[in-house]
Amino acid sequence: EQRIKRKLITEEDVQRTLAKRMPDAHKGSIGKALVIGGSLQMTGAPVLTTEACLRSGAGLTTLAVPNNIHFIVSQKTTEATFLPLGCENGEVKTSNFSQEIGLNDYDAIAIGPGLGRTQTYSLFSSFNDYKGPLVIDADGLYHLSNELGKWKEDRKGGPTIITPHPGEMARLIGTSISEVQKCPFQLSKDFAEVYQMYVVLKGPYTIITSPNGDQWINTTGNASLAKGGSGDVLTGIILAFLLQHRNVTAALTNAVYIHGKTADVLVETHDIISVTATDVVERLPMVLRSLR
Ligand code: APR
Ligand code: MG
Repeated sequence: EQRIKRKLITEEDVQRTLAKRMPDAHKGSIGKALVIGGSLQMTGAPVLTTEACLRSGAGLTTLAVPNNIHFIVSQKTTEATFLPLGCENGEVKTSNFSQEIGLNDYDAIAIGPGLGRTQTYSLFSSFNDYKGPLVIDADGLYHLSNELGKWKEDRKGGPTIITPHPGEMARLIGTSISEVQKCPFQLSKDFAEVYQMYVVLKGPYTIITSPNGDQWINTTGNASLAKGGSGDVLTGIILAFLLQHRNVTAALTNAVYIHGKTADVLVETHDIISVTATDVVERLPMVLRSLR
């Protein structure tokens, strides 16, 4: 007998669970976020993630990028700190992240936006013992698909969250995009249960699945988000909310709802073809405020 729990995310749920800011809060009590990504060809993606993370309440946000783009990304983001990493072919080159970065100094980590795909070392073995939540997105998922079996066996730390679009999900499972679109619920559930990960399968109706198979469906958002960078922004919101929620599914459902809702608010004043990912980041403060 199969127990199925499937639920729509409602605005009331989001309002009720939205992170609070205590009067005696300080940046250290909220937590430190780390974004790892960027490459010579994709300098904007990790900046969008970082800016979205800052706008979503992170206490401290650090951006780790290959050192050849450090001065570019640091021009674009003011409040973050930076970790310039070794670089090869314009991409991060480090066979041991835990040597270059004190991973456990961070309360949550997102890896992938703009990271590039030419690395040949194991990207994830350094994260096996990372205690906090690890969000894997974009090119991080490309690498994860080559290391899935090992990751399942070796990951001993905190929760893993993946944020694939249907193409990335198809590659992870080893199937076609049309198969993913035909059975998004079943495939997400099987994957989440087998690999014990949280799966955020993105699309016009994003589906969030927890490792026990429970599922949430998001109904906010619109086609203004069909533009490069939208996913990078979502990853930043998720990262910040993971710092502020004990419950991983609350962080994920709130982030996905608010990301879509921001796009819905934007198309009231901006034409649907004109909205950019930067617009979404800039509108977040008002949308968050409207949910209080
Ligand atoms: N309706 C509602 N939401 C949408 C729609 C739509 N029609 N189109 C896109 N979205 C939302 C998705 O739900 C998701 O949250 O926008 C976001 C898009 O995320 P991605 O598919 O990851 O797109 P993008 O931000 O462009 O990714 C940047 O990462 O995955 C790689 O190959 C991708 O190089 C690209 C980079
Ligand atoms: Mg993406």
